[in-house]
Amino acid sequence: MGTRLRWGILGTGNIARQFAQGMTSAKRCELAAVGSRSRYSAQAFAEENTVPRFYGSYEEVIADGGIDVVYVSLPNAMHHEWTIRALRAGKHVLCEKPIAATREEAAEMFAVARKSGRILVEAFMYRSHPLTAAWLEEVRGGAIGEPLLVRSSFCFRTRQTEGNIRFNPALAGGALMDVGCYCINLSRLVANAEPISVTVSAKLSENSIDEIASGTLRFAGGLIASFSCGMTVHADNTASICGTRGYIEVPVPWKPPMHGATYVLSTSVPPQMDARAKLAVGLPGSTPRHVRTVDAPGSLYSLEADDMAAAVLDGADPAIPESDSLGNMAVLDELRRQIRESIAHHPGCFLVG
Ligand SMILES: NC(=O)c1ccc[n+]([C@@H]2O[C@H](COP(=O)([O-])OP(=O)(O)OC[C@H]3O[C@@H](n4cnc5c(N)ncnc54)[C@H](OP(=O)(O)O)[C@@H]3O)[C@@H](O)[C@H]2O)c1
Repeated sequence: MGTRLRWGILGTGNIARQFAQGMTSAKRCELAAVGSRSRYSAQAFAEENTVPRFYGSYEEVIADGGIDVVYVSLPNAMHHEWTIRALRAGKHVLCEKPIAATREEAAEMFAVARKSGRILVEAFMYRSHPLTAAWLEEVRGGAIGEPLLVRSSFCFRTRQTEGNIRFNPALAGGALMDVGCYCINLSRLVANAEPISVTVSAKLSENSIDEIASGTLRFAGGLIASFSCGMTVHADNTASICGTRGYIEVPVPWKPPMHGATYVLSTSVPPQMDARAKLAVGLPGSTPRHVRTVDAPGSLYSLEADDMAAAVLDGADPAIPESDSLGNMAVLDELRRQIRESIAHHPGCFLVG
């Protein structure tokens, strides 16, 4: 293998497009091929993103000898099959989040990766932005004392439900799978552990897709993480990590800008409520707020791609280790099981949990 990773993309949808555009600023990566169910789409994508080779099938991409790594940007229910096929064809794989439809599928994918001597990584791009490492270092370094509460949200509102993979149960859609997986990942990252119990409430669509979900994760050390996710509602899409000595607010945790990404560290001096009230009316409060800015080179997707290059070419630790992906899937499995169980007990009910 050379000094640069040659990428093949499966699928020509929304994230494949963003990834291909973002990749242009990657230091050690280049696009080599793209495959689509439609040769016409593959050609249009290749022309738009200057990809040298295009194919009217996914098979042809993974059979292409000029490719080192395959990026799986297909619907969730297809991650398992196409990741395994690519690994067996000798390719490394960066697979979109959530890595599979279930933990069992994910475990099988990693087993095939090991057997094939290839690297498999889940594409949680927010983990490649240095902002995430920066606020996490503050938490781990004790800046807020013992972290005991995490709050996070990731919501958007779309009216485009027809033909949308996110609203299709057969393609493993739903808000938990689409965006809740980020909140769960961040909560587990802060806890540096797996939860001992999880609960969820959800608002369902007519075809029993969780359009909105809200839940909690409890960890043995005492930390409680609450999260909200949704595909038909707006929210602030922030994260807060609250501890015994202060708290950190991350205004844009999931897709931080490359320039001027921030987090705010507040160290509390009681009584906190009084300090907040003073701040609200413009009086100096007693809560010091330190705004930290983190800049990053390139684009979010070039950072993600270069992290993959470091794992493949240098043997660096992957941005998301296997245990992290499996832990995330285990939580998603349990939350989705609870929703299914509620539906079974209350058929026709659109609010469950
Ligand atoms: N990391 C991120 O920032 C991020 C953002 C959005 C989505 N994602 C993840 O990326 C994956 C794809 O999401 P997306 O937003 O790109 O979806 P999308 O726009 O619907 O694209 C999915 C692509 O998959 C292919 N496909 C194969 N079988 C399909 C089927 N039965 N129905 C629909 N499409 C099918 C299509 O490509 P061809 O027609 O070319 O074969 C389609 O363009 C999901 O796993 C999602 O969770 C990640």
